[in-house]
Amino acid sequence: MFTPDLFAPEDDDAALMAQLRQVLHQHAHRYYVLDAPTIPDAEYDRLFKQLQDLEARHPELAAPDSPTQRIGGKVLEQFASVRHAVPMLSIRTETDTEASGAENFDARIRRELGLTEADPAIEYVAEPKFDGLAMSLRYEHGVLVQAATRGDGEVGEDVTQNIRTIGQIPLNIVAPALGTDVSSLPPEGARFALGRPGGKTYPLVPPVLEVRGEVYMRRDDFEALNDRQRQRIAAGERGEKTFVNPRNAAAGAVRQLDSTIAAQRPLSFFAYGLGEVTAPEAGGPRWQTHYDMLQTLKSWGFPVCDLVNVAHGATELVAFYQSIGQQRDGLGYDIDGVVYKLNSLALQRRLGFVTREPRWAVAHKFPAQEMLTTVLGIDVQVGRTGKLTPVAKLAPVFVGGVTVTNATLHNEDEARRKDVRVGDTVIVRRAGDVIPEVVSVLPDQRQGNPEVFTMPHQCPVCGSVAVREEGEADYRCTGGLFCSAQRKQSILHFAQRRAVEVEGLGDKLVDQLVDAGVIHTLSDLYRLGFTALVNLERMAGKSAQNILDALEKSKHTTLPRFLFGLGIRHVGEATAKELARHFGKLDAIMDASEAQLLAVADVGPIVAKSIRTFFDQPHNREVVEQLRACGVTWPEGAPAPVAAQPLSGKTFVLTGTLPTLDREEAKALIEAAGGKVAGSVSKKTSYVVAGAEAGSKLDKAQELGVAVLDEAQLKEMLDGGS
Ligand code: IVH
Repeated sequence: MFTPDLFAPEDDDAALMAQLRQVLHQHAHRYYVLDAPTIPDAEYDRLFKQLQDLEARHPELAAPDSPTQRIGGKVLEQFASVRHAVPMLSIRTETDTEASGAENFDARIRRELGLTEADPAIEYVAEPKFDGLAMSLRYEHGVLVQAATRGDGEVGEDVTQNIRTIGQIPLNIVAPALGTDVSSLPPEGARFALGRPGGKTYPLVPPVLEVRGEVYMRRDDFEALNDRQRQRIAAGERGEKTFVNPRNAAAGAVRQLDSTIAAQRPLSFFAYGLGEVTAPEAGGPRWQTHYDMLQTLKSWGFPVCDLVNVAHGATELVAFYQSIGQQRDGLGYDIDGVVYKLNSLALQRRLGFVTREPRWAVAHKFPAQEMLTTVLGIDVQVGRTGKLTPVAKLAPVFVGGVTVTNATLHNEDEARRKDVRVGDTVIVRRAGDVIPEVVSVLPDQRQGNPEVFTMPHQCPVCGSVAVREEGEADYRCTGGLFCSAQRKQSILHFAQRRAVEVEGLGDKLVDQLVDAGVIHTLSDLYRLGFTALVNLERMAGKSAQNILDALEKSKHTTLPRFLFGLGIRHVGEATAKELARHFGKLDAIMDASEAQLLAVADVGPIVAKSIRTFFDQPHNREVVEQLRACGVTWPEGAPAPVAAQPLSGKTFVLTGTLPTLDREEAKALIEAAGGKVAGSVSKKTSYVVAGAEAGSKLDKAQELGVAVLDEAQLKEMLDGGS
């Protein structure tokens, strides 16, 4: 690890500053680009402060590439214009969002290169299309001298101050020789070829180098930023707002005239191309392929996306498109498609440009995940547990690959925060399998003054009182199974594929059955007769028989499916499986104490309590009995062998207030681990667990020589320590 003592006090300040800058550059690269810091943050901060102090003492030694420039500085009146030495082009978009878009591109390139079917597959580079904003970074002799936005492609804006605040962007390209001791690096200003495992060497940094790429904001950074913004708004700070999506937040940050504000907006960068670069004839690098060029940029310290890949021919482009499409929702950042580029730079030159787009590249988009539409109404839906959810009814819109007509507004606070009103133009988002949501309203599109939405205080379905418990985000209908909406949802939950699975029993049919009063409780399902079914609207004899067959089939299920199907709050599929494995039999689960439930992997205090509460309700037990009586069965097993429990044979006495656990929780945890809890201290007591303001029990323990634990020690024992 780097030690500050490297600098003897007699070293002259200029040399010290140079060395500090170099060391800080190294660590910034490790921290921001490689995600592998080698010194603690506090150590970095200390060195940074040391440099700041020196710079304050020696303004004449200030440098634009000093790491201290990353925190922002003066406030600009406006951005200066920058004429790009090489225009920043855009790329043609392949609008076909099917995988065949890749085939179209390959066919076109082959045609333009005059290839026939007999010729081999073409080599491409396939990259994600990052959803941020294009940036051109100009380095002269390795030092970042200018950062400019794309603008109209010819002239952009000088946003250097703001871009310097991005930790991932090198201010000074000193190729970081990783794994080498910092103190052994060459002096600042030296440029050198980098050796890499495998003997590959990379070109020297040329005198002029423009790196182009995308400035973007990571999703987690975006969420954290918006959380901070919400706190500011709540604290009454003026002029603060939340951002609609990471791209808008990134664009806003880049265009901040006050760079200290930009410095607080966490931005990232991916390099994907070049602008002006010293020609090979003048000593600049000579690359054969685009991929090779990206590798060099990486070796110089620029972030290059790991997903970038070489692909041969249409088949591999299609595979790339599909693979990235699948990974899209799980990436840490937004992408809106992929980009294919001819890998050979010679072939790129041969194809050249049409108007302002290169012939050798194409953007292949994914279906958009955000679209504009109009709100036709706002409904409140009632879920299985009585939760009321405000839902915007939308003019149909194609988003995320499907037509969407409903989008959730989540809950009262969210609906109020977004202030969605009937008639509004809104951004709707549907990403992956997540239910569509309203992201935000376009306020200037609002016509007139439509009514503000308020949550009803009564269930819109059964009229029961709806309550919002303290600390909860949701209103809940208190009607329970009296509420037909909750009944319907419970039935659908029970009949779903992951539960007992009644094929063909969908929401339309359940609506009909419940509305017609044919079904009141779950077990009524198994009392359905052919006549009752066939008398429903749009129900043919064949379909009715299919439903009856499916019901019959569903009677033979498994304990985890049945348990999950009961719809106990907080009991998902995984928990149901664990419960079944642990107890083996339903009756054992129904009768288990909270402490016994806590012994199940996956079950914490909230879940244990919820299970207990569920089976404490006579009507829930009745439902279980009725289902069994109707012939619903599953194989039951023996309880899983109990592992040797860490506290078995031990007796505990609790006294005083523990820092995090209350008395009941501590007791449950001890019991779940096989221990006993007693009310008073005796010679038989194994341990006294003492918290703040422990009283006479602690005195007694000391008198009798009983071991005393604090909460941390108890927790250690619970985890299996001695
Ligand atoms: S290459 C000459 N590669 O998409 C080709 N662009 O019009 C220049 N973009 O706003 C662009 N990811 O900022 C390229 N991997 C990628 C990209 C990418 C995102 C953006 C770029 C520009 C637009 C292209």
